[in-house]
Amino acid sequence: MVKLTGLKKIKTAVFISGTGSNLKNLVKFSKIKNSPISIDLIFSNTSKAKGLKFSNQFNIKKYVSSFKNYKVAETKILNVLNKENIKFICLAGFMKILSKNFIKKFNGKIVNIHPSLLPKYKGLDTHVKAIQNKDKVAGCTVHFVTAKLDSGKIILQREVKILKKDNPISLAKKVLRQEHKLYPSAIKKIFN
Ligand code: GRF
Repeated sequence: MVKLTGLKKIKTAVFISGTGSNLKNLVKFSKIKNSPISIDLIFSNTSKAKGLKFSNQFNIKKYVSSFKNYKVAETKILNVLNKENIKFICLAGFMKILSKNFIKKFNGKIVNIHPSLLPKYKGLDTHVKAIQNKDKVAGCTVHFVTAKLDSGKIILQREVKILKKDNPISLAKKVLRQEHKLYPSAIKKIFN
């Protein structure tokens, strides 16, 4: 794992596919004096990702490459990551699966936020599943990324109560609010 050396922040890329609320939150966190990371690159597999607007807003470089041919896309990204001297990657609502080869190149330096209390509910529709199963608690997890989907070592989790009145949409909102607290805490935990 990369260690925080001196006062230099670790150059970080955030990978997104959608709204980017976690990205925005991580950028704000990165600007705090004792944050271990700086956000230096935003990557998306689609130019439709709303979160790309934060590139202009916060003056952060962005790079978009479709994953139609993932090998080509990953080679391009790796070039950009090397060029920008990126040492750490945060996946935040990134809807593509990275190859074994890519993960190996950034071994132990890629983390993801997932909207469930892993190991429960890997993959999609976590909130629907939690409600269908009549769970009493839901939550979110930050974990290291390995070749096996949503299965890497857990760094930190936060729970929320599921109330009778909750539906997948209300639950997603509640969990997202916790995600915004969890991601910075997990990053601090990694580098402290
Ligand atoms: C979050 O719920 C995250 O856990 C999941 O995708 C959603 C992304 O939200 N992987 P945002 O784009 O950060 O707003």
